[in-house]
Amino acid sequence: MKAIQTAHPTSLDTLRYTDLADPGAPGAGEIKVRLRASSLNYHDYLVVVGAIPTPEGRIPMSDGAGEVLAVGEGVKEFAVGDLVVSTFFPAWLDGDAPDGGFAGVPGDGADGYAREQVIAAATSFTRAPKGWSAAEAATITCAGVTAWRGLVGDGALKGGETVLVQGTGGVSIYGLQIAKAFGCTVIATSSSDEKLERLKALGADHLINYKSEPEWGKAALKLTGGRGVDHILEIGGSGTMPESITAARNGGHIALIGVLAGYAGPVSTVAIMGKQLKVIGLTVGSRRHQQDMIRAIDVAGYKPVLDKHFPLQDLAGAFKHQASNTHFGKIVVDI
Ligand SMILES: NC(=O)c1ccc[n+]([C@@H]2O[C@H](COP(=O)([O-])OP(=O)(O)OC[C@H]3O[C@@H](n4cnc5c(N)ncnc54)[C@H](OP(=O)(O)O)[C@@H]3O)[C@@H](O)[C@H]2O)c1
Repeated sequence: MKAIQTAHPTSLDTLRYTDLADPGAPGAGEIKVRLRASSLNYHDYLVVVGAIPTPEGRIPMSDGAGEVLAVGEGVKEFAVGDLVVSTFFPAWLDGDAPDGGFAGVPGDGADGYAREQVIAAATSFTRAPKGWSAAEAATITCAGVTAWRGLVGDGALKGGETVLVQGTGGVSIYGLQIAKAFGCTVIATSSSDEKLERLKALGADHLINYKSEPEWGKAALKLTGGRGVDHILEIGGSGTMPESITAARNGGHIALIGVLAGYAGPVSTVAIMGKQLKVIGLTVGSRRHQQDMIRAIDVAGYKPVLDKHFPLQDLAGAFKHQASNTHFGKIVVDI
């Protein structure tokens, strides 16, 4: 089977398109999957450029979707031919996150899904949403579950609330779609007026260009009539946090997700205290979060926003496209 593997020094230029042996037959409790698609996340980018160190020969990509080729003894949840999608933390099924960080995460601490076939525990996959293609399903694992957990799992989102999403990456567009499915008002930001128009077409109620309006937190606060935003998906991190604090309502919730605007920096802790904010750091979510999200998608009926498709052998090209920041939604790799 074909796969992509890293080679040291890890970089986009040293990624290898290789032949690996067929993984054989699944054991008890396992399934064999013919992977058909993966999707790109910033975390995968950090792996393939070597910013997150991994052993030589690592198969990258946390997201994978495809059809079940064979089921091992005792597997009742899936049948041959089912479309399945991988989970980010194969060992985290439900409840609080277990210890261990990224040790078992596919494409980081373990081999990922930039390959044609895999044998894995049945519990490291879930079924895909009804009517979704493999490419669509492959966007759920990281970006989809993160947005779901930020808003619903941790945020206990309610219809009528106001949600702010930053930029037009995978997490934020899922956040917009989840919020609209719940009947919420969405304030969306982007550095591009053209992308803002596309967000409007997806249902965003209010638009702010964060480049021409650097004090976008004040602008968001004004849009809520001074009350403030209920939930913010914070994908920038330290660089955007001060504006998020300004935008939030008293007692509001900030889901601390990303690092696109910095890993550390000055943030007014007294403002967090004074506004009694709930700032909750999160790393993707459990298999239960993914299953809950997929059940909701089956009812809500939306589809993810896909940007460009790339073939597996051009994974490096896909990441160069991601680094250009011209994408809107999820970049997909067809396998
Ligand atoms: N904690 C977790 O579990 C978790 C899970 C998934 C992702 N993340 C993190 O969340 C972040 C977003 O991930 P993603 O996969 O959605 O990334 P992505 O698809 O690559 O999103 C990139 C987009 O983010 C927007 N952006 C960049 N800098 C920004 C800023 N300063 N303010 C507002 N928007 C900005 C830009 O949108 P415009 O072009 O429209 O301006 C850019 O196109 C990354 O840091 C990633 O590591 C964390």
